[in-house]
Amino acid sequence: MEKEAEIEKLKKECIEFCKKSPLYKDGTFPVFGEGSLNADIMLVGEAPGYNESITGKPFCGAAGKILDELLEYAGLKREDIFITNIVKLRPPNNRNPTQEEIKSFAPFLDKQIEIINPKIICCLGNFSTGYIMKKFNLSNKLQGISKIHGQVFSVSTLFGTIKIIPLYHPAVVTYDANMKDVLKEDFKKLTKL
Ligand code: URA
Repeated sequence: MEKEAEIEKLKKECIEFCKKSPLYKDGTFPVFGEGSLNADIMLVGEAPGYNESITGKPFCGAAGKILDELLEYAGLKREDIFITNIVKLRPPNNRNPTQEEIKSFAPFLDKQIEIINPKIICCLGNFSTGYIMKKFNLSNKLQGISKIHGQVFSVSTLFGTIKIIPLYHPAVVTYDANMKDVLKEDFKKLTKL
């Protein structure tokens, strides 16, 4: 099946799954993810916030603005990469996703990775980093994001080598403006890669 058809099928399945999820609320949208299906780089965030849940688009609120700035700094365009989250529905009051929620949504992220087959996966924040590193058998290298942000972990898969890069979640800049420079440094590595 073509990538477009595969991703459309998966999106439909994801929307049906979301409708039955305890996180589903009328008037809000699942945020499946968007971007190029031929992307070399995939960004994996945590879960939609308010703005994302009313538009269905990933990273379109405050954290999204920061992300756009960082992408521009790294010379990357949104349309050339693929952006998604582990959890596809907004947890109430933007609370952290539970392990149970992460587990229940993970098959959709797994399949997105399989279809898009990126060369680089950037994990935005601790939750995404934890899930992706465990998935790719990097549990022994897993530490808090303050310790491993910006490091590049190469893993061999059936489909080739994937580089996994944990990054701070862009929302961190809304709490501590100084963190923007740290994120910029890390995003610059993407340009080099
Ligand atoms: N934070 C995330 O992790 N994902 C979004 O889509 C928006 C904010």
